[in-house]
Amino acid sequence: MKIAIGADHGGVDLKALITDHLKERGIEVVNYGTDSSESVDYPDFAHAVTHAVQEERVDYGILICGTGIGMSITANKEKGIRAALCGDVFSAQATKAHNNANVLCLGARVVGPGLALMIVDAWLDADYEGGRHQKRLDKIAAIENAQD
Ligand code: RB5
Repeated sequence: MKIAIGADHGGVDLKALITDHLKERGIEVVNYGTDSSESVDYPDFAHAVTHAVQEERVDYGILICGTGIGMSITANKEKGIRAALCGDVFSAQATKAHNNANVLCLGARVVGPGLALMIVDAWLDADYEGGRHQKRLDKIAAIENAQD
């Protein structure tokens, strides 16, 4: 498995922690920055990570900012991206099972490091259930396609 990861200055420390955790799980991580505490604009990093997901250069994306909100708003503007901002383990599991979320967003100023890693694991370890949920994802895609 290959995961693209990106953060703004608010998420840079959590990004490093999650990167180490993913590597310990044997997952290949592609880092799209930022790698310093200097102020940057989260849309730039959201766009880089979601582009990698869209082009299937990676399997999934993880985006981190202070709240996770800016990253999730930006990511969900991108066609084919189903980005889920999660602050609890139940939602992380459910958004893979039901929404087949291909990008996970986290708020580094919202969740502590221990909970963040549990959220990442719950999302990665869950499987998309398909079935009745596919009809709903098809409707999301139809809404996207109607905007072309
Ligand atoms: C940056 O200060 C902050 O606005 C950003 O990390 C994020 O929380 C935006 O949604």
